[in-house]
Amino acid sequence: MSNKIQIFDTTLRDGEQVPGCQLKTEEKIIVARALEALGVDVIEAGFPISSPGDFLSVVEISKAVKDPVVCGLTRAKKDDIDVASEALRHAKRGRIHTGIGSSDVHIKHKFKSTREQVLEQGVWAVKYAKSKGYEVEFFAEDAGRADLIFLAQLIEAVIAAGADVVNIPDTTGYCLPHLYGKRIKYLVDHVKNIDRAVISVHCHNDLGLATANTISGLLNGARQAEVTINGIGERAGNTSLEEVAMILQVHKDLALTTNIKPEKIYGLSKLVSGMMRMPVQANKAIVGANAFAHSSGIHQDGFLKHAENYEIINPAQVGVPSSSIILTARSGRAALKHRMELLGHKYEGEELNTLYENFLLVADEKKEVKDEDLVMLAANMPVLVK
Ligand code: KIV
Ligand code: ZN
Repeated sequence: MSNKIQIFDTTLRDGEQVPGCQLKTEEKIIVARALEALGVDVIEAGFPISSPGDFLSVVEISKAVKDPVVCGLTRAKKDDIDVASEALRHAKRGRIHTGIGSSDVHIKHKFKSTREQVLEQGVWAVKYAKSKGYEVEFFAEDAGRADLIFLAQLIEAVIAAGADVVNIPDTTGYCLPHLYGKRIKYLVDHVKNIDRAVISVHCHNDLGLATANTISGLLNGARQAEVTINGIGERAGNTSLEEVAMILQVHKDLALTTNIKPEKIYGLSKLVSGMMRMPVQANKAIVGANAFAHSSGIHQDGFLKHAENYEIINPAQVGVPSSSIILTARSGRAALKHRMELLGHKYEGEELNTLYENFLLVADEKKEVKDEDLVMLAANMPVLVK
């Protein structure tokens, strides 16, 4: 089995489903080109039948990028597949992503159907999509809650019908990492023709486990990860691209690689959050404003002695300009001295102690002590000296 993980980006489809995050076609083309430069293998460009705008976006993205596969989503319906096929006609490599619900709750309450009918419709959709001449990916929606024996039968049947990739989504973000991994392993061990398709993982973050579940799926045999920039997506979001890419980069012992160029991550995160007007939470891994900011005295002292004491990623590796030391009432003398030196003031011994006492008075008043406050403190030092 290959150690290369295909990165399938769905920022422009699952990510763009977030209310208020809709992009115009021109904006989507900019994001798609940036995703190509980042090194993603597949771009899910939209759901062509859903609106004329989405159709146009898939057409234009198909023309705009050359390396990644361009993918269009469909339900397991003829009209959807016809429209997606039309939208993808300019793609150098196009993929139809079709599928149907696989859990009993979806089968009963969404489709008012039976397992047998769902299997039949899934097989039909794959064969029909395949007849259009594209790669075909099948998604078994809500696979995280599906009966495992039925899921295996469904996956075996759609691979026999020609599916190149089988997507096992944890649509509701329900699974625990070890159990999601076990599901993937079960399919690897029990689906007779599994070697004819790539297993894809698509995890939602309702319990904050999307990235953990994705990694667990990859460790158990999946070779494609479906992700979005900044983890944006329905409800609590999708698995974040930057987290998966950097986990595989940091944990070289896993021996799984991607084509992602990490130094482009931060720029793309900013591009997507700016265009979608979707701020990134400050403590978001890899791309949050505080991801490389050190604020407590113990951490600052350790970081200033040797960055690796408190950083497992060099910020430059992911395109973040630099680490930062935030001065607050929890900061220590080492950080204050360091920052003052950057501002051209050198303090040692008793003088530093006095400066520090005065700094704490300011810090207790303000949440964060900025350079302008330090300059004032330095200017007032002679009168502040005890
Ligand atoms: O979460 C999900 O199940 C999906 C499918 C449409 C792939 O987004
Ligand atoms: Zn999804």
